[in-house]
This record gives sequence, C-alpha cells and structure tokens, in this order.
Amino acid sequence: MYRTHTCGELTINNKDQIVTLAGWVQTVRKFGAITFVDLRDRYGITQLLFGENLNKQLDEQPLGREFVLQATGVVNERSNKNKNILTGEIEINVTEFKILNKSAVPPFTIQNNTDGGDDLRMKYRYLDLRRNIIKQNLQLRYAVNRSARNYLHEQGFMDIETPFLIKSTPEGARDFVVPSRMNAGEFYALPQSPQTFKQLLMVSGYDRYYQIVKCFRDEDLRADRQPEFTQIDCEMAFVEQEDILQMFEGLIKRIFKDVKGIDYSESVERMSWEDAMWNYGNDKPDIRFEMKISNLKVQNQNYFEPFAETEFGVFKNAETIVAICVPNAAEYSRKQTDELIEWVKRPQIGMAGLAFVKLNNDGTIKSSFDKFFNEGQLKELASFCNAKTNDLILILAGREERTRKAMSELRLEMAKRLGLRKDDEYKLLWVLDFPLFEYDEEFNRWVARHHPFTSPKPQDIETMINNNPVIEVAEKYLDHPYSKIKANAYDIVLNGNEIGGGSVRIYQRELQEKMFAALGMSKEEAQHKFGFLLGAFEYGAPPHGGIAFGFDRLCAILGGSESIRDFIAFPKNNSGRDVMLDAPSTIDEKQLEELNINITKRN
Ligand code: AMO
Repeated sequence: MYRTHTCGELTINNKDQIVTLAGWVQTVRKFGAITFVDLRDRYGITQLLFGENLNKQLDEQPLGREFVLQATGVVNERSNKNKNILTGEIEINVTEFKILNKSAVPPFTIQNNTDGGDDLRMKYRYLDLRRNIIKQNLQLRYAVNRSARNYLHEQGFMDIETPFLIKSTPEGARDFVVPSRMNAGEFYALPQSPQTFKQLLMVSGYDRYYQIVKCFRDEDLRADRQPEFTQIDCEMAFVEQEDILQMFEGLIKRIFKDVKGIDYSESVERMSWEDAMWNYGNDKPDIRFEMKISNLKVQNQNYFEPFAETEFGVFKNAETIVAICVPNAAEYSRKQTDELIEWVKRPQIGMAGLAFVKLNNDGTIKSSFDKFFNEGQLKELASFCNAKTNDLILILAGREERTRKAMSELRLEMAKRLGLRKDDEYKLLWVLDFPLFEYDEEFNRWVARHHPFTSPKPQDIETMINNNPVIEVAEKYLDHPYSKIKANAYDIVLNGNEIGGGSVRIYQRELQEKMFAALGMSKEEAQHKFGFLLGAFEYGAPPHGGIAFGFDRLCAILGGSESIRDFIAFPKNNSGRDVMLDAPSTIDEKQLEELNINITKRN
C-alpha cells in the first residue's frame, strides 16, 4: 500500500496515529539538524518533519522539488500552527521514507503566483496542472458537469453520443476536416456542434436528449473561444419556446445552487434583441448595472432636436450619435477625459473622438463643445439622457454600426473602472427574437444568423417565402424585407457573456427547403448537404427545439475569469497550437501517400 491517507486530510484528531503519505515535494527547509518538507498531492499539503536520525539517509538521498516521496511517521501536534490550511495543526514525525521517483528541476515554481510565463506553462502543462489555482478550476468544472448531469437526468434527459467524423454542420465557422484513407480524395468534417444529430434523435423519438460534448470550429480565437470547446448540448420534442426557456433557466439556477451555493430565485429577465441593441449597443448586455445608451440620432434620424440644427460638424455629419451617463464622474480631470479620448481612438474601438458633458456638483454644466451649444441646450441634452448631478455624459458620433459597438465597449469599460462589474454578482438575461437572417456583404447573400434549422416567427413565414432573396445593391440590404424577419431564437447571457444559444426548429420538409432556398442554396445543393435531414422530416418529425451552453465559458465566469483556457486541462494557445504536443505538425510522406494528399504549399 502506497499511502494510508492523502496530504489533505490529517488533523489534530489523528494525533499519535502512524500514517503513510505519498506525494510531491513542494519545499525542503533545513533548520540545523532537522528538515521540514511540505508534501503535496491533489488534496492538500502536509508538513513532514525529518529528525536528526534521518540525516544520514537524507545526505545519501537528497530531496528536491517535485520528487515523488513516500513517508511514514507519527502524527504530532505542531508547535507553530498554520490556521489557513486544514492540516495546519499537525505534522508527521517521519520514521522512514522512500524516494519513489526523482524530478528534474521544474522550469517554473509550482505555486499560485508562479514565475512561469504563459508559453512555458503551456509547454509543461502537466506541471502547471499541479498548481492549486488550476486544480481548483478543474474541480469547479467537474462540479458544473455533475450538477448539469444530475439536473438533466432528473428531468428525464438521456445522454446520447453522436459521431465526430461527419459531414459539415453549418454553425457559421470553418470546418476542421479529416481525410479519409479508405475513400481517396474524400474528407470528413468534425462537428461544429451535434446540431443535425440531435434533431434526428427527436425524429427517432428520444424526446429529451443531452450531451456534454466537444465541438470543433476553425475560427479566429479570443479569450472566450477555443478551436475545440465543450457544449452542454440539449434538445426537446413537443415543446414551445417558453417550455425551453423554463427548463434551461432551471438548469443554470441548479448549477448556481450546487456549485456556488447561490439561490437565484428571481425569474430570469428577458429582453428582445432589438431592445438590447437599442439600449446597450450589444446583443449580450451586462445588466448588473444601468448606464443605458441614449439614442440622440440614429441612422440620420434625429431624436434630440437641437442636434438637427447644429453647426458642430462632428454631430451634423454623423449618421448616429449615442450617449451614456457615467455616475459620479463629473469631477474627471482634463487628464482623465483626455485619456478616455485616447481610449476610444484605439484601433480596437476605432472612433475619431469623444465628446462629453459634465454636470458639476455646483449646478454648472460644461461640455467639450461649449462653442456650439448654450447652457439651456446642454441642460436639455442632460435631461434627454436622464443625467443626474455629478454625471459625466459621454457622447460618440459616427457610422451606426461602429458607433453603437464602440459605445457598448465604452459602457463596459466605464463600469469596470467604477467597479460595477463585480465577479461575485451574477445576472442572467434571455435575449429573444433575434433576426432570422444576416446579410453577408462579402458574398452578397443572406446567411442564417443562428443556423439554417431555426424557425422563423410564424407571422414572418409569408415574408420569407414570398420575397426574392436576391439584392441588386448590397449596401441596400436593410431595405429588404428579409432584414425585418425575426426568428424563434434565443441566447442566454450571464454578466455580459453569451453562455448559450438555441432555437425552436423547423420540422417540416417544405419549410426547411424554403429556408435553404432563401439562403441561396439550389435544390441539388440542399439535397447534397442536408438530404438526410430533409428525408427524416418526411417520416413524422415532431415539433422540437433546444439549446447549447458553452460549458467552458460558463465555468470560466463562475470561476471569476475572462479566459476559458484556465478551465480546460489541455488548451490550445491563441494561434490554435498545442505547444506541449507541438501540434499541428507535418506528417510523413508515407502517410500523405496513403491519404492521397499532395501538399503544394508549405509555411
Ligand atoms: P452556438 O453556436 O450559439 O449554438 O453555440 C452555443 C454556445 O457555445 C459557446 N461557444 C464557444 N465556446 C468556446 N469556444 C468557441 N469557439 C465557441 N463557440 C461557441 C457559446 C455559445 O453560446 N447548435 C447550436 C445550439 C442550438 O441551436 O441548440 C449552437 O452550437 O457559449
């Protein structure tokens, strides 16, 4: 037997017991004739005391950091107690020990505050995973996993696996492809999600399906995106949108309770996509704080009259002007407002400048465009924006899309600076009624905003069927009736992050065919790509709908982190590389030959 206990469980109650522990050497401290060793395993750290009698053996077999050590001894009460850890009141007075394995000097310190940079830690991820902070993240991930499974099981959902070697699934990203050796010149695609399979399972009668499943998407990476990531993927039959919303806000509430001990008893707020864009400039607003956008001018329509007549070029020529009121920021100094101007000019934000109005405590009002507006007009502006004394009104003007996006970023940035984005506060939101289509200006065609299996709102079906999708002048797409069509689609947002999305599906072959046609697919193409689904819809497909949660994202937010990488055991870096395995990599000529692949261009 290698051990009688773990390094995280012995307390004063075990005093005088003879125990054997096994683990990794965290530190070795020599004090004269005695040596202290902190021994670590997954469960904790226990202090070992090597007395004088073991000095000779220690000299012959010196201990080093990360050595694997087995030690037997008596549990003693410590004179110098550490109240911060469970094992802090005891130490093991070692009688015998054995080095089970040596370790090279680790390339970084295995502590929460490590000296290892990102790349180094990823290269030696198996060492990084020994750090407590990462271990806690993986423990949290497992807790979320268990909680989700328990809830879904109790609700009658069945976990059913679906294949990875498949045909393209349209989720809007590029596919990762796998060449087939047995079918020369042909490729599988890895699933961007199990979307079509879960719909087929509904046709097969498995009316409550779930899977915690890997998805693969070849897209540009960010802190909250990985090329392979995990979804809690769910589908239900014989349900309407309302049934789905209820079921899955139940799932998130259960996870809050099980994992964080939070009783999220209020019902989840709901907002239409249009309201989200209008009030927050964003389809995943953080509603932990207010600071809603005031729309002064939108796509050349003036909502605040004095701006209609202004000679101030920035406002006069702008397509859209939006503002937010930042509470208690009127005393911002010139230096601080200059810094904000620089902030909005950064390429990621891309604005030409920022205008502001200060509602000072003494009742005076000052703006960065005083030359063009008198005090009365500024007061009118303040009242239009619902500003209060001591508010700083920030105004952005420019092209509609960019300005709205920039304001949404600025709103988040100001909230961060004011400490309004608190890690331990959780606010869920359903965003409903997304547009069904989005116009792809590059390819001059409509694409599905969610995916092509999402149903249009019943009242919009006629509009979809009776209008020709073709647009002569690409920039005029907003005038096309398709831009107004809404979908039975919803996203769930947590603290400004999209943690899940889904829809009520199309389940009639005819309507599905019309949808493919609206997306510019010929009958033959639709048949080639999705013939299996269209075929299945002929054999009694029930009404159905579902959702998928970004499992990594959910864990990261619950763990108070922006980056999902910290919650994945073996993640990829920002260029999609696994630096530990050094993948992707070239393969040898023989393999290429077997696969009938000829490489014409290398990096
Ligand atoms: P969607 O594409 O919205 O829907 O994905 C669902 C959720 O998955 C997460 N997510 C990601 N997480 C990490 N890295 C990525 N690259 C990544 N891409 C997406 C997000 C997102 O909300 N089949 C549909 C679901 C359905 O209709 O039922 C789908 O995949 O949190």
